[in-house]
Amino acid sequence: MLVRHLTLSHFRNHTATDLALHPGVNLLVGFNGQGKTNFVEAIAYLASLSSHRVAGYQPLIQHDQPQAIIRALVSHDDRDVLVEVELNRDTANRARINKSDSKRVRDVLGVVHTVVFAPEDLDIVKKDPSNRRAFIDELVVQVWPRFAGVYSDYDRVLKQRNTLLRTARQTGTRGNALSTLDAWDDQMVRLGSEIVNARLDLIERLRPFLTKAYQDIAISNNEPTIMVRSSLVGAQVLDEDEELPYLSFTERAGVETMYREKLASVRTKELERGITLIGPHRDDLVLLLGGKAAKLYASHGESWSYALALRLASMQLLREETRTGDPILILDDVFAELDAGRRARLAELVADNEQVLITAAVAEDVPDSLNAKMFSVENGVIENGE
Ligand SMILES: Nc1ncnc2c1ncn2[C@@H]1O[C@H](COP(=O)(O)OP(=O)(O)O)[C@@H](O)[C@H]1O
Ligand SMILES: [Mg+2]
Repeated sequence: MLVRHLTLSHFRNHTATDLALHPGVNLLVGFNGQGKTNFVEAIAYLASLSSHRVAGYQPLIQHDQPQAIIRALVSHDDRDVLVEVELNRDTANRARINKSDSKRVRDVLGVVHTVVFAPEDLDIVKKDPSNRRAFIDELVVQVWPRFAGVYSDYDRVLKQRNTLLRTARQTGTRGNALSTLDAWDDQMVRLGSEIVNARLDLIERLRPFLTKAYQDIAISNNEPTIMVRSSLVGAQVLDEDEELPYLSFTERAGVETMYREKLASVRTKELERGITLIGPHRDDLVLLLGGKAAKLYASHGESWSYALALRLASMQLLREETRTGDPILILDDVFAELDAGRRARLAELVADNEQVLITAAVAEDVPDSLNAKMFSVENGVIENGE
């Protein structure tokens, strides 16, 4: 798929950007802080309703403005869709598809698919579990858009359950509070199990693509594998800095039972501490390289290869699992981070994609072989040519 036309109104520093994009490679060049990432962030937002840089949407609305609008004309197989998201500072956000109002903003999910490569991707390999959960959950939502609802319901149940546990700790538990807790537990187990299983399912689908992508980008036969560490496994409640046990891929059918039993067994502890101690919001992925945790052992170069391979594998997965063909590839400032070999191989691996959007401070960082159409970005204004 591709974006033919993008209009931004009061989106970050883009006061009024209106731009026709080309099939193939588009390169946005400009000094730091001019609005390159902002531009691609807007497109990625349509695909995930989240930003790779911030939580929430308020920072996306231009300072001192009540509203930001992202409007994209996207197309696949010569079918055009006009998709629009309106972010409002003080009132509910809205979305439109082909000019008719969507019931919920999240109904736009599934229209646009993107894969974003960014310098922050190194954090998926090297930093804390929240980066890996965000990676996998964002992909789950792109492949199965209804999961946006599952995640948001889970977050709501988690918040309410935590409030109840906190209150119970302060005021002592009474029968009433306990039966409310039982009701939250039922919902939590149902929603949480769906999330745990979706992650397992997605990781299994990703596996063959990841192996291939790693070998392509690293030119190495080192085998990358992803495992899940889960707070649902075992009898113990571990602290956030302790290593959770592995959840095997064959346990999928038993996840709900395991969840229910563990939740029952940790209840006293949860009441003592006043917080939910287990669930997918505490789980982690382990990225192994040749059987060893990349987080602990991978070199800088290997970590970059791993991060790129995760994105390249996501691209293949979306090609396979969605009905919109190639996802739009966004390479935000990544070429500057890579050595010459990885640069050239990455360029080769993305060159055939239907549309690729690249940002760079200097055009020289981007391999000539990509034959890019150029744009310049300055102070939130984009122009054709250098
Ligand atoms: N909500 C906002 N309103 C106005 N300007 C913003 C907003 N958010 C970010 N900016 C501005 O956008 C600029 C950064 O743009 P960015 O796209 O990240 O730059 P780059 O071209 O380096 O990728 C900064 O000058 C920042 O002040
Ligand atoms: Mg940038």
